[in-house]
This record gives sequence, C-alpha cells and structure tokens, in this order.
Amino acid sequence: MTEVNQDIDLSLYMNESAIQDLGPVIEGVQVWGPVTNQDFRKTFLDWYDKESRRLPWRESKDPYRIWVSEIMLQQTRVDTVIGYYARFLSAFPTIKALAEAEEDQLLKVWEGLGYYSRVRNMQAAAQQIMADHDGIFPDNLADIKKLKGIGPYTAGAIGSIAFGIPVPAIDGNAMRVISRLFMINADIQKPANRKIFEAVGQYLVDPDRPGDFNQAIMDLGSSFETPKKAMPELSPLRDFTMATLTGTTDNYPVKSKKAKAKPVYYQALIIQNAKGQVLIEKRTQHKLLNNLWTVPLINLGTSANQDLPANEKTAFLLAETQEAYGISPIFMRKEIGQVKHVFTHLIWHILLTYGQLKPVDEKKINDMMTSGEADYAWVAPHQFEDYAFPTVQMKVWQAYEDYQKDNHHNIK
Ligand code: ADE
Repeated sequence: MTEVNQDIDLSLYMNESAIQDLGPVIEGVQVWGPVTNQDFRKTFLDWYDKESRRLPWRESKDPYRIWVSEIMLQQTRVDTVIGYYARFLSAFPTIKALAEAEEDQLLKVWEGLGYYSRVRNMQAAAQQIMADHDGIFPDNLADIKKLKGIGPYTAGAIGSIAFGIPVPAIDGNAMRVISRLFMINADIQKPANRKIFEAVGQYLVDPDRPGDFNQAIMDLGSSFETPKKAMPELSPLRDFTMATLTGTTDNYPVKSKKAKAKPVYYQALIIQNAKGQVLIEKRTQHKLLNNLWTVPLINLGTSANQDLPANEKTAFLLAETQEAYGISPIFMRKEIGQVKHVFTHLIWHILLTYGQLKPVDEKKINDMMTSGEADYAWVAPHQFEDYAFPTVQMKVWQAYEDYQKDNHHNIK
C-alpha cells in the first residue's frame, strides 16, 4: 500500500471548491484531474499577468542573468538582491568575465550578501561552462544540473524561465504553496520528501509557460501565502487551496524543528598603529567567511570563559593574542562595545577590546606583512573600499565608531 501524505479526502470537497474532476494519486497525494488542472493554470497565470512583480531579472531571458538572480535569491530577500544584481552584472557582464575574475574582486562585489560559497561555486561553474560549452550556458537540464552549485531547484528555475523547459522549481516557497493546495503533511525538512513536491509540482506546472508558472508560485509565496500572517482568502487560488477551504493554513507546511544555533564567543581586537590605522587580517583556511577580512578575532570557546573573573579573562586574552599573533598589546581594561551576529548554525557574540601596540610589536606585524607570512593589513576608514568585509565585520566597525562618537574623540 502506498503511504498517504495528505490530510484530506479531495473527493469530499468537489462541491465546495473549484475542483471539477479527480486525477491520479501522486506519491501518496490525490490531485485534481486534467479539467481542473487547466482551469487552475489559467486562473493562476491570468493573475500573474495582471499582478506579477516587475523585477530586473524578469526583463530578460538571458540564462546568465537568470542564473545570477536565482543564486542570489536562494538565501536573500528580493529587496536586498535588486541592488547587488545590478552591481554584479556591471562588474561581470558575461560568463567569461565571471570565469576570469579575481577572487578578491568577486568577494568584494558579494560583500554583505552572505553564504559566500554561492559566488565561489558560481565562478567554478562559469569556468566549467568555458571549458565544456564554449562559454555558452547549456540549454538542457542534464548539463545544467552538472554545474557546480546548481541543485534541482536552481536547475528547474533556470531551465523553465530561460529555456521554457516544462519542469517545476521546488524550493521552500513552492513546498509551502503546494502543501497548502493539497494539505500535504510530509515534513519539508526531510530531504527524502522532496520527491513528493517535485512530482506534484511536475503535474501542476503549465507546459506552455513553465517559467511564468514557477515565478507565479514565487509571487504567491511572498504575498498571500507567506509563512506567517498569510492572507489565503485573498489569494487567486483560494478556491483551489484545500488548507484555505478548511481553515488550516497555519498547519502547512509541516516542518520539524531545526537544531538551535550554537553560541560562540569572541574577543575582537581593535589594534591601532602609530598612524591610527587598524589591523585587519584575511581569514584563510576557515570554513566560514574564508578569504574575507576581519579584525583579529580571538575565539573564547562556547561559554566556559564567560564567567571567569576579570583579571583571569585579561590573562587569557593576552596569552591567546601572543599565541595567535606573537604580540602583547596593551589592552584597555573595559570592553568598548559588543556585536552579535547570527549565522545558520552559529551565533557569534563578540566583545570589542581596544589595544595599543608597542613599537617592537608593530614592527613584528609589519615584518610579517612584508614577508607575506601573514595576510595582514593596516586600514583607515577611507581604505575600506579595498577589502571585502563580511557583515559581521561591518557591525564591528559600527560598534567601534559608536564608541568613538560617545567618547567625543578618537582613541589615540
Ligand atoms: N525567488 C527565487 N527566484 C525568484 C524569481 N525569479 N522572482 C522572484 N522571487 C524569486
């Protein structure tokens, strides 16, 4: 017997909904039949034609542009993406330009967007396209899926929008919309359940306008069918949506709880040289924020050190700074600020500590810098344009600036 992944018997709702006929059972989900499906697609696309958002990447069918937009939109809000999208395309107008870009420039253009592996993978894929496809974006799903960083969702989005391939594009938005249509109770957090939504999505997608259909789902998912505070009774699909008809919108999608993000504690060292510039370093061999620049960060572990008496904390900080950087700054006793930054699985709690360098230590740092032994730099605010800083470092700069303002002077 196949598993039932649905909380409703569709046949009981034929009179009270837009459903006119019944279709097959797909992955344990009873769907509506072909007559209703036609009606559904027409209703949905008529709405899209009238109400769709005008977005820069919808002005073009160029697969490169669609690709860039889809990668940016994976973890980032539309409003944020719009500015980055234009800047990225003027910096790297072609696949070739992206393939040949310097990593530092790449990271600078992506600065603040987060999930930096997205842009590294995009560059690797651009190089694949240069090597395997003469620089032309492949026009079939099998080849699109071979590109680094392109999973089933992105392949579906690019394939349908740029090339009109009749496939769904199943991301969290689409799973939410589809789960509400048929009251599908499969946990969307479980990768094995993806195939249910892929298969139902494949049945629903309009083969004549798959790109518009998929983007209509995105628009619905960010208007009437949002995760919280949905307004399903205003949706163009109201009469097709079983969760709306039964008043159970908030029960879908079914989603198991994510593991809680772990706190990690850092001391950020604001260290100035005689010219008043601040020491930064490039993170190398890190999983997180690799090749981006921050002030020196001393990892204080998960929590154990937080409760130490002040003098022991200072001793610990000095020892760690000596160990990691070979220097012994003169630290100010009091922390000058704090910053919190949430990553997917971690929360960084950062205390800012100000330190001055003795001439001998400043020389040590400068020697390591010139010998290329370490990726350090001294910066003043007017030089910030030359380095790619992650958002957490922008917060550190802000906290430092706030401190200077509150104290009406620059620390010297
Ligand atoms: N989210 C992901 N892809 C999108 C698109 N093409 N338009 C709007 N939002 C999106």
